[in-house]
Amino acid sequence: MTATYKVTVALDFANLADAKTLVSQLNPEYCNLKVGKELFTTTGPAFIEYLHNKNFKVFLDLKFHDIPTTVKKACEAASQLGVWMLNVHASGGSHMLEAALEGTSRAKQPPLLIAVTVLTSMDQKTLEEVGVSRKIEDQVLRLAKLTEQSGLQGIVCSAKDLDFLKNQFNPSFLFVTPGIRTAGDVANDQVRTMTPLEAIKAGSNHLVIGRPITQSKDPSKTLEKIYLEINQD
Ligand code: C5P
Repeated sequence: MTATYKVTVALDFANLADAKTLVSQLNPEYCNLKVGKELFTTTGPAFIEYLHNKNFKVFLDLKFHDIPTTVKKACEAASQLGVWMLNVHASGGSHMLEAALEGTSRAKQPPLLIAVTVLTSMDQKTLEEVGVSRKIEDQVLRLAKLTEQSGLQGIVCSAKDLDFLKNQFNPSFLFVTPGIRTAGDVANDQVRTMTPLEAIKAGSNHLVIGRPITQSKDPSKTLEKIYLEINQD
């Protein structure tokens, strides 16, 4: 039996009303939802509960990065909200990553814990600014390996990086990929994009898609179209 892929829709909204309007048009059979820093800071745990009551699974995208004890406690608190997926920055190092895992493992149903390696907004020059002189791809690989060795379940990365990353990891290691655009979409600020089906074929486990769905004329129809595209045999 082949896997059924759901889309993870990024709810990048500044306020509750706009987020709720979009959510009312989405089917939890076809998608999970990603709540990031802006929306969570505005709406808090109550909105996560609202989404759970509507049968959506939630990826809480807060990218924790702090001293190990603080990250452990933040991950424990986030896990108690019952979220499906949670993330931290791999550049916090192995002690921080292991502490994060300890925090999530205290929940009844621990969320998947994944790590951000190098932010896709960073280029070679920005990496040099923070004291890293090796090539971006090498830094992504190094941090992805650190993530796997620390026991986390996967990483966020560009689908374009899957060809050099995927076969270097255990098959159960998850690759969560933003930067997805269908043929007719505008790229917005994404530079290295792939279509939903290309990304799945390259080995992505979860596609994160924001504006192509949230800004489309008919979000419900657009989501259904993408869902059918990635689940065709
Ligand atoms: O609207 P769009 O499809 O570009 O949204 C992509 C989502 O994925 C946004 O919430 C963005 O913050 C997030 N993301 C990303 N690149 C990363 C990590 C997260 O675009 N490396």
